[in-house]
Amino acid sequence: MTAAVDRRFRPNGRNWPLIWAYVIECGGSTKTTSATSMAVTAALRGHSGVVFDLDSNMSSSLVLGYDETALKGKKTAMDLLYGNATLDEVALPARYRIDEGYDDDAFATIPNLRVVPSSPLMAGADTAIAEDPDRNDWFAEILRSYQGDDTVFYMDFPASYGKLPYSVLRMLDEDDSVMPSIKADPKDVKMVKRLIDELERVRDKNRGRRSVPGRPTLNHMLLTGSPTSSHNEAAARRATAQAEALYGSVLLPYVRYSADAKKLYEDECPLPVLLPNSVPSVDYRKVMTHLGFADLTA
Ligand SMILES: Nc1ncnc2c1ncn2[C@@H]1O[C@H](COP(=O)(O)OP(=O)(O)OP(=O)(O)O)[C@@H](O)[C@H]1O
Ligand SMILES: [Mg+2]
Repeated sequence: MTAAVDRRFRPNGRNWPLIWAYVIECGGSTKTTSATSMAVTAALRGHSGVVFDLDSNMSSSLVLGYDETALKGKKTAMDLLYGNATLDEVALPARYRIDEGYDDDAFATIPNLRVVPSSPLMAGADTAIAEDPDRNDWFAEILRSYQGDDTVFYMDFPASYGKLPYSVLRMLDEDDSVMPSIKADPKDVKMVKRLIDELERVRDKNRGRRSVPGRPTLNHMLLTGSPTSSHNEAAARRATAQAEALYGSVLLPYVRYSADAKKLYEDECPLPVLLPNSVPSVDYRKVMTHLGFADLTA
């Protein structure tokens, strides 16, 4: 470890960072927006981290500066899964687009943040693990050999509970967090129950094992697109009330609705950098303050 890392980010004295798993089997539920916004907010406040893009849709890779063209010839999450590369060989400095083209000066770097880029091949990740059970240990190996000073690994998943999410979730302990991010929509709220069942299955399967923590826990949950005075649909109000009633104890401060949120994909730039004063950016700063990520740069 290069510097003394706050012990809060090394539970039980372990050598690897907190793990936050943005997972829920619900497409378009705002996992990527929340993972990238929280990671960038923390990084701008001086807390270093790594976003792992494990979704073949490559959304967080794009938002953090790497589309398929930029990634030609570069190593990706797939190389980690196959054990062909180390974390430091795969992780790239997070950046955002400020100009056309692919020269280095078309991008500005985001300090304190790296991204493990995804690849279209990650669509075959579950099959790759099924073909060779040793691959189930890919994430465990990264953690055990880790020596850096990052505070959080932000894990962005596809909307599924296959073997890839399992290989990560079994490495979470009670101090880490499964961190679903859902829209204020009754359909999204309904999907949380299945996530809780899935986590129970992972814990059951690993109970009594000593080689992996096996205790993924839903400690925090994000509710996004919550009603505002100008965006105030009955369904969103109903969903917010349901989420509060069922999951009030783990709900983080709400992230309000903003049509601006869509722009992060068009502009290839994370929300806190693209629109620092839009309501979701303000709200993600509140969320990170709530989670104890004070501004170290002030
Ligand atoms: N606070 C917000 N208000 C309104 N819209 C939002 C907000 N946050 C995110 N969105 C929009 O919700 C949509 C889905 O977000 P996102 O891509 O982050 O979800 P996801 O769960 O990662 O999706 P997928 O399952 O495809 O990976 C995007 O169009 C995004 O711009
Ligand atoms: Mg996503």
